[in-house]
Amino acid sequence: MCGIFAYTGEKESLPILIDGLTCLEYRGYDSAGIFIPHSGLIKSVGAVDNLKKKLSKAMPGKSGIAHLRWATHGEPTEANAHPHCDCNKKIYVVHNGIIENYKELKNKLLLEGHIFISETDTEVLAHLIEHYLSIKQDFEKAVISALKDVRGTYGISVSYDNEPEKIIAARFGAPVVLGLGDRENFIASDASPILRHTKNVIYLRDGEVAVITPKTHRIYNLDSAEVTRDKQILDWDADQVKKDGYEHFMLKEIMEGPEVVENTIRGRLIIEEGQVKLGGLEVVADRLRQINRIIIVGCGTAYYAGLVGEYMLEEYAGIPVEVEIGSEFRYRKPIIDKNTVLLAISQSGETADTLEAIREAKRKGALTLGIVNTVGSTITRETDAGVHNHAGPEIGVASTKAFISQLTALALVTLFIGRQRNMSLSVGQEIAKEIKLLPKKIKEILKSVDDIKAIAKKYKNSKDFLYVGRKYNYPIALEGALKLKEVSYIHAEGYGAGEMKHGPLAMIDEKFPTVAISLKDSVYEKMLSNIQEIRARKGKVIIIATKGDKTLTDFSEDIIYIPKTIEMLSPILSIVPLQLLAYYFALGKKLNVDRPRNLAKSVTVE
Ligand code: G6P
Repeated sequence: MCGIFAYTGEKESLPILIDGLTCLEYRGYDSAGIFIPHSGLIKSVGAVDNLKKKLSKAMPGKSGIAHLRWATHGEPTEANAHPHCDCNKKIYVVHNGIIENYKELKNKLLLEGHIFISETDTEVLAHLIEHYLSIKQDFEKAVISALKDVRGTYGISVSYDNEPEKIIAARFGAPVVLGLGDRENFIASDASPILRHTKNVIYLRDGEVAVITPKTHRIYNLDSAEVTRDKQILDWDADQVKKDGYEHFMLKEIMEGPEVVENTIRGRLIIEEGQVKLGGLEVVADRLRQINRIIIVGCGTAYYAGLVGEYMLEEYAGIPVEVEIGSEFRYRKPIIDKNTVLLAISQSGETADTLEAIREAKRKGALTLGIVNTVGSTITRETDAGVHNHAGPEIGVASTKAFISQLTALALVTLFIGRQRNMSLSVGQEIAKEIKLLPKKIKEILKSVDDIKAIAKKYKNSKDFLYVGRKYNYPIALEGALKLKEVSYIHAEGYGAGEMKHGPLAMIDEKFPTVAISLKDSVYEKMLSNIQEIRARKGKVIIIATKGDKTLTDFSEDIIYIPKTIEMLSPILSIVPLQLLAYYFALGKKLNVDRPRNLAKSVTVE
C-alpha cells in the first residue's frame, strides 16, 4: 500500500528512482510521482510507465524522492499524487499513512496564508515544515517540529531544494527502511527496491527520524536526541524480486512452493525425536508450558492460515484456539490474561490491524508470538518471540507461497507445543516425517499445470463459483475462493461443505460450478454426500482428490489429484491446485494478475 523510495548519492537519480518505483509497483497503487531538487516535479495517474512517457525533459540531479500512491484522502488524480510541496515549492514530501488531524492543521495554515493545491492530508506536512523554516528553524528541526504537531500514521521522505544532498525520513506506524550503500544511501517503504543496491539496512522504529546524505546517516527521536542503531544484513537475494522468465510473479511464487517449504523447515526438523528446533520459541518455552489458550490473529490469507492452525493446534497440542481477523479483534473486548498467547500471522509483518491486535494483547498481559516472513518488520520487533517463514520476498499481491509457508510454520509450532504437552513420540515422528516429504509432493502437483489450465479454460465463462471443503480443508475452500476473487474478479464463495444445505445449495444449477476438496481423510464420506447433493441439482463439480481415488471419476470429469499426506498437512497440498486455478482464470481474462485492481500487498492503514 503506497510506496516510498528515495536516493542520495553520486549517480544520476532519475533512473534509480524510476527503477525503485517499478520494484514497488507490486504494493498496489493508482498514481506516481518523483521530485529531484533543482530539476522539479513529475506526476502521473496510473502506471509508472505513464510517468516515464511524460518525461519530456531531462531531470538531472543526484538525489530525489519518489512515491506510488494508493488513494485514501482524495481521488487518484495528478494533483493528489505525491510528492506534495509547500507554497514556495522548496519542500517536497512523500507520505504513506494518514494524518488524522490534517483538517485542523490545514485550517490553521490557511489562516496564516498558506495555499493548498491538493485534497490530501499529506500536503499539510509540507506547509507545516515551511512554517517552521519561516520561524528560523533549520531543515531537520522543522521536520521534527512538524511531526510533533501531527496525529496519525506516517512513513515519510522529505527533500528540500536548498539542501539537495539531504533527505529526511521518519516513521510512525508506516514502515520505513534505510539502505546503506557505498557513497549512496536509500530510503524505502520495504527492502525490495533497495536489495539491488545494498543488503545493509536499518528498519526505522516508530517516532524515529533519519537524515541521510550520500556518505552519512543519522537517526534521531522526536526529542532530537541521536539514536544509535545497528545495521542489519538482509539474506534476501536481489534475484528473488525478479520474474525469472515467468510471465507473472504469482506463477513464479506458486512454482517456488517446494523450495519455500524446504526453506521453512530447514534445520528445524528433528525427525528421530519427533521434535522441532525453533530457536525463536525456545526463549519462551517455559511460558508456553503454562498457557491455556491461543488466539491467532491475521488478515486476508494469513487469517485463513490461522484457521488451519486452529485445527492443528487443537488436535495435536490440545490447547483451545480462537482465530480472529485483526480488524475485529482490536475493536472487541477480548478476554486475555497472562496464560493467553496471541499468535500473529503476517507475511509483511506490517499489516496495521494485525499489529494493533498485538499491541492490545500485550497491554493485557498476553505473550505475543509471530509467524512473519519479513525479517526486521514491525511485527517481528513487537512480538515477544516467533518463527520466521524464510519464504523469501513475495511480490504478487495475492499471497501464495507465503500461505504455504505459514501453514508449514504452523505445523512446526504445533509439533513444538504438542511435544511439550501430550503428543507422543510416535505421533511427533510421523508428523515430522510427513512434513519432510511435502516439497516432493508439491513438486508432483505442479506437474498437473496443463490439466489445471484446461479446467480453467473449460469453465472460463462461469460467473460464480462455490468452493467447499470440510475440517482441515474448510479454510482451504475459503482461501481458494479468495484467490479466485482477488486475481480474476470472479464471484466465489467459500463454505464448509456441511453448510451447503443451510443456504448455498439454493444457488446451484448447471451454470454455478463448485470446487470441492474431497480427500481420502476422516471427512471423505461426508464430502461425497455433499458432492452428490450438488450433482443432484445439476451442478458441475471440479474436485481436488487424493491420488489413486477411483470412486470420484463417477462424480466428475474434472478432477485434480494430489498425493496423500496426513490430514493435518493436506491443506499445504490442496491449496496448490487452487492457486493455479485462480491464476489461469485470471490469465484467461488477460488481467493484471500480480496487481489486482483496488488491492494492496501490504495494508498499513486501518
Ligand atoms: C493484503 C494482501 C493479502 C494478505 C493480507 C495480509 O490484503 O493483499 O495477500 O494476505 O494483506 O497481509 P500480511 O502481510 O499481514 O500477511
